[in-house]
Amino acid sequence: MEDNLKKLTNEVGAPVPDNEHSLTAGPRGPVAIQDVWLLEKIAHFNREVIPERRMHAKGWGAYGKLTVTGDISQYTKAKVLQPGTTTDLFMRFSTVAGERGAADAERDIRGAAVKFYTEEGNWDLVGNNTPTFFIRDVHDFSDLNRAVKRDPRSGLRSAQNNWDFWTLLPEAFHQITIVMSDRGIPASFRHMHFYGEHTFSLYNSENQRVWCKFHFHTQQGIKNLTDEEAEYLSGHDRESHGRDLFEAIEKGNYPRWKMYIQTMTEEQAKNHYENPFDITKIWRHSEFPLIEVGILELNRNPENYFAEVEQSAFSPAHVVPGIGFSPDRFLQGRLFAYGDAQRYRLGVNHTLIPVNQAKAETNSYHRDGAMRVDGNHGGTIAYTPNSDGIWSAQPGVAEPPLALDGALYRYDPKDDPTDDNFRAGGELYRIMTEDKRQALLQNTASNIAPVTANIKYRHAVHCFLADPEYGERMTGALGLSFDKVRELATLSNQELIKATLKAEDFPL
Ligand code: HEM
Repeated sequence: MEDNLKKLTNEVGAPVPDNEHSLTAGPRGPVAIQDVWLLEKIAHFNREVIPERRMHAKGWGAYGKLTVTGDISQYTKAKVLQPGTTTDLFMRFSTVAGERGAADAERDIRGAAVKFYTEEGNWDLVGNNTPTFFIRDVHDFSDLNRAVKRDPRSGLRSAQNNWDFWTLLPEAFHQITIVMSDRGIPASFRHMHFYGEHTFSLYNSENQRVWCKFHFHTQQGIKNLTDEEAEYLSGHDRESHGRDLFEAIEKGNYPRWKMYIQTMTEEQAKNHYENPFDITKIWRHSEFPLIEVGILELNRNPENYFAEVEQSAFSPAHVVPGIGFSPDRFLQGRLFAYGDAQRYRLGVNHTLIPVNQAKAETNSYHRDGAMRVDGNHGGTIAYTPNSDGIWSAQPGVAEPPLALDGALYRYDPKDDPTDDNFRAGGELYRIMTEDKRQALLQNTASNIAPVTANIKYRHAVHCFLADPEYGERMTGALGLSFDKVRELATLSNQELIKATLKAEDFPL
């Protein structure tokens, strides 16, 4: 046995005689095609790279558990959320815009995806470290990524593209304020909160539904980096977040987050002063208090980065009985996007990869496909309905029906009179201490510095609409005219966009 551990074999188990010297015709002659081990080695190496995630490409993961300490059984029948339950999980953190080799300590939002291996199947909560998002219609998602990733001509990241896109969508304002604030560069994954962001639903054993948001608060305390600290760190250690997480877990210093939910009844949602299904809006804690659920702990590092972290695949479509979706049009788009991306990135059978595999029994009629490595359900009947009545659907787990109203149409949320895209950003500014306000102004000024003045004006106007002081101080930080900002602030959104389209109209 001892000896076997030291033996090199080819991919089908035969011993390899030599791993350093090619099989050549004579000491100085050409290589023989008969050196099949060499061919296998090169061919495998050539195929080692798989497509990186289109966004959230750079990430780090760990295993852990969720322990439910609270009692939310009145809202959900999900077994994973019942009092006293402990469930194993895998979690992957990520940055968003950077590629697989990018530095961790970038000003960017952070992804936080959790796969709960529940006894009723996998539940994936695929969130971020912000309670809101830049955009709210799935149509804008590929454009957001094009704007924050590389410019098609130069191949460079472009502040101009980034800010142009952001400022053309006023609903991005709250998220921009967060990303430019002191929280824009977390010191590590361990030192940040994370959120499900969307409105989801919970339903109980009586099939009564509430709308719900998921929150996870770091128990390590919030810690952030300044631009200068992040620049220094990135120059010395591009893997600062990954190293921090890995080393903390190796040392037994297990990071923890307290899990909460907020709930809203269907009746409250109908009468709420904002669209509760708009991901760019938040539910204020004063109106919808946090309800404690439990503790999420990470306590084991993966044994192999590629197998477990790179090949992990999360999807908001993966829910279990008692947890459901909502009419959020952004969430609806995500329900398709992830599985589709993963069928391309990892293959149609990616749920058989051990890190993605459910611990619950999986009895589906999906068969065959590339890399079907689990026996493919052997001789079990492969169609339904069948006279044996095996693997029948279970109507008992169906979600309660959801009443809908309205005609099918391409609605613009900006036409909704309740739509206020600046309220939450203004509120956030007003609760910031003076230090935090200064950090926000400084971070924005340096981030937007390379951008043309017309776009800077757009942003300053949005700040002014959120809070006059925020607007005035941002105008000063960006070196703009406050008279001009006030004048532009009287325009409608469409007029503002029209007035600020051309850089040459705004010489600095
Ligand atoms: C309609 C909007 C969105 C679309 C179409 C979308 C699509 C995607 C896709 C295709 C991936 C790569 C999946 C893979 O290759 O495994 C991804 C990754 C990810 N997305 Fe989204 N996304 C959207 C919005 C969001 C939002 C709002 C959040 C947070 C609440 C989010 C969080 C994440 C995270 C955390 C990952 C990385 C998951 C991992 O660690 O593997 N995304 N997204």
